[in-house]
Amino acid sequence: MISSLTVRRIAADQGAMLRELRTAALREAPYAFGETLEQALDEKRETFETVAARQAISDSSTSFILYTEGHPAGLIGAYFDDRRMAFVCALWVAPAVRHLRGGELLVNTASEWLAEHGATEVHAWVTDANRTAMRFYERLGFGPTGEHERMTRAPDEWETLLVRHVPRTHD
Ligand SMILES: CC(C)(COP(=O)(O)OP(=O)(O)OC[C@H]1O[C@@H](n2cnc3c(N)ncnc32)[C@H](O)[C@@H]1OP(=O)(O)O)[C@@H](O)C(=O)NCCC(=O)NCCS
Repeated sequence: MISSLTVRRIAADQGAMLRELRTAALREAPYAFGETLEQALDEKRETFETVAARQAISDSSTSFILYTEGHPAGLIGAYFDDRRMAFVCALWVAPAVRHLRGGELLVNTASEWLAEHGATEVHAWVTDANRTAMRFYERLGFGPTGEHERMTRAPDEWETLLVRHVPRTHD
């Protein structure tokens, strides 16, 4: 079963799939993300097509898609911010395939891509109330940076910045 899970970088023509996965994530786990489902649904379809086309070739921002038996079943974003800090974001695995290490495969694949582009640390913002994601990231070796912020979507909720060191792949 585990071997049926694969991860591939987004392709330029996968805008519709990106939209489908992102809206499925926001519908199923709205507590986990800063963006709301309404915001994602308000985006034009062409926006997702533009994002996919850019992310398929960009050196600073991309997405990876999890597949089970060829069907899309999860998503993660990876990007560098203006200060070249590396982040993973928007992680989601469809409920039917959880606990099969799909989340781990997504985080590790995204981390490898970031490391190949120069990252030595990978960061992730996690909502404090999302205990599952906290445990998940801790199990993968992420720890707190000490940075803690109110969420824009819900100012009474907080999120914590986690970090994991990654081995250098390039000198
Ligand atoms: C967090 C998430 C991506 C994990 O995906 P996954 O494919 O199940 O992850 P893995 O199989 O690689 O690892 C699962 C591990 O995470 C933790 N975990 C996952 N779900 C859990 C749950 N419901 N309760 C407790 N721990 C959980 C455990 O450590 C678990 O290990 P186990 O399966 O041996 O018990 C998935 O639960 C998810 O999509 N949740 C909703 C969206 C979300 O919270 N995204 C994170 C935003 S920061």
